[in-house]
Amino acid sequence: MDAIDALQQRTASPRLKEPAPSEAELEIIYKSGLRAPDHGMLRPWHFLVVKGEAREKLGELFADSLNPDSEEQKRKLRNAPMRAPIVIVAVAEIQEHPKVPPVEQITATAAAIQNMSVAIHALGYSSIWRTGKAAFDDGVKEALGFSAKDEIVGFLYVGTPTVQRDIPENKVEDYFKEWSG
Ligand SMILES: Cc1cc2nc3c(=O)[nH]c(=O)nc-3n(C[C@H](O)[C@H](O)[C@H](O)COP(=O)(O)O)c2cc1C
Repeated sequence: MDAIDALQQRTASPRLKEPAPSEAELEIIYKSGLRAPDHGMLRPWHFLVVKGEAREKLGELFADSLNPDSEEQKRKLRNAPMRAPIVIVAVAEIQEHPKVPPVEQITATAAAIQNMSVAIHALGYSSIWRTGKAAFDDGVKEALGFSAKDEIVGFLYVGTPTVQRDIPENKVEDYFKEWSG
């Protein structure tokens, strides 16, 4: 797919099914993520790829860490990672740096997520970037091998879309204005 088409046509898909990208396609997706801009070349990003039964373990971790106040909530948390064949957890491991504050390390990781989501679309699959309470929970971060200072920037759910969504229309003039001083 043409790069401009992929950029302009990507949409999120809330429900994703098999097939997931193959290993060779995942390699392309990962390499696309790793071409994100990165101030100071700090490489703050880390990606945990969760597939198959590991998704159930991730759901258990959400349910155990977030103290849901009802059985219904607990069930939802347990099932959350099952909404796609693959979940990529994108984490910014925050480093102290005199010129690159945490926000820039988080935005570099966000750019990597977006590069991956466009690559996923270009390969004929789809994705949705989610966060939610699990992304901001220190217990979840620690169980995944990170620390409270780090940021889970997103869970990228990846697979084949179950429905084709229309592309929402954005008017360029609503967001872009020429500034001439
Ligand atoms: C940082 C970030 C966090 C998001 N978290 C969620 C989320 O937890 N749940 C959700 O349904 N959508 C979430 N979204 C929005 C979806 O990824 C998606 O952009 C939205 O459904 C609109 O669809 P579109 O991307 O096709 O326009 C998030 C987006 C971003 C950038």
